[in-house]
Amino acid sequence: MLKGKTVLLGITGSIAAYKIAYLASALHKLHADVHVLMTENATNFINPITFETLTGNKCLVDTFDRNFQFQVEHVSIAKKADVVMIAPASANVIGKLANGLADDMLTTTVMACRCQKILAPAMNTAMYENPVVQDNIRKLQTYGYEVITPASGYLACGDTGAGKMPEPETLLEYILRESAFQKDLAGKKLLVTAGPTQEAIDPVRCLTNHSSGKMGYAIAKMAMLRGAEVTLVSGPTAIEPPLFVKVVPVTSARDMFEAVTGLSDEQDIIIKAAAVADYRPKQVSEDKVKKKDDQASIELERTDDILKYLGRHKKQGQFLCGFSMETRDMLRNSRAKLEKKNLDMVAANNLKVEGAGFQGDTNVLTLITQDEEVSLPLMSKEDAALKILDKILLLTTKAEA
Ligand code: CTP
Repeated sequence: MLKGKTVLLGITGSIAAYKIAYLASALHKLHADVHVLMTENATNFINPITFETLTGNKCLVDTFDRNFQFQVEHVSIAKKADVVMIAPASANVIGKLANGLADDMLTTTVMACRCQKILAPAMNTAMYENPVVQDNIRKLQTYGYEVITPASGYLACGDTGAGKMPEPETLLEYILRESAFQKDLAGKKLLVTAGPTQEAIDPVRCLTNHSSGKMGYAIAKMAMLRGAEVTLVSGPTAIEPPLFVKVVPVTSARDMFEAVTGLSDEQDIIIKAAAVADYRPKQVSEDKVKKKDDQASIELERTDDILKYLGRHKKQGQFLCGFSMETRDMLRNSRAKLEKKNLDMVAANNLKVEGAGFQGDTNVLTLITQDEEVSLPLMSKEDAALKILDKILLLTTKAEA
């Protein structure tokens, strides 16, 4: 995801410094060229050798280090950088950067960077709330720094409050949003639905299905990373929604219908990956239904077909993609959905094919449009999401030309 990108990590003297080892490693695994810059104080919390081992690059601490190939190092690294993150950022370094002071390797390098700078303050609550620190943070924001609001919680100093550096997984998401992929979906509004719906029988029971939501969540994440403004309408799932995506949680098919149709007019692209229940109990019991000795049955009625409704009310230039899960006659049945629901594309998968369908992290999709059927091999749901988005971009660009 970050092949060919240079990421600078600036670490200052805060106990949260140890968490950056995970971040450096995760970035290296995503093929970024990672350079770590530490203040002298930071080296009291974690050893530079840790970062050299994880990134394969020399960790820079001393501006006047004689042991390097001749280049003005803080300038050459700043020129290469695609993004710089200062995390944890102490009150001292925030103060220096906000006031143009550059007296060590980290501050001179950051000052020489023209790329996007992201700051994750981490300090004691009273320090964080100090008006001087707040003024410095605001000043850096006006200069274009992105500042990640610290989390609240138990701090290493024993206090509880704001000032905690977010977990490295969160920091990684900020770097990915900035640097992963070309932003070829910038300016597009994309709505994706994901997960199952739950249709209540009584206060304790419901009708649902095995959808995990992974495919829809992967589409939401990849579209966001490619620059789209993403809304994720999600049925109940056990997975964390991606950052920087507007999430609308729903439970039943009726809720999903209302959420989606309320937002559909403003969307350029709608992808319906959710496994919406086709039927719901006709009567929902207010009290728990008690068991009896003989057989039981539930009378069902049809839910609204959201996709069909969207196909009927499709606005000019809007791209509509449905999903189709089959166990037989996949191509014929899916093509029928394309016609019947007035779709631009159907992403079809056969539940009986190894590695396809619900729950797993992979899928085997066939992308069906009016003119063609493209069979994709087994791949991760994230890669499958990218293929879907590639195809949509190609078709919408063609249509606009
Ligand atoms: N869908 C929807 N609203 C429903 C049911 C399904 O929007 N009430 C959407 C799904 O999100 C998916 C597509 O329609 O994008 C699936 O089409 P559908 O005809 O429901 O497929 P199946 O349920 O697989 O069809 P069938 O039950 O006829 O096998």
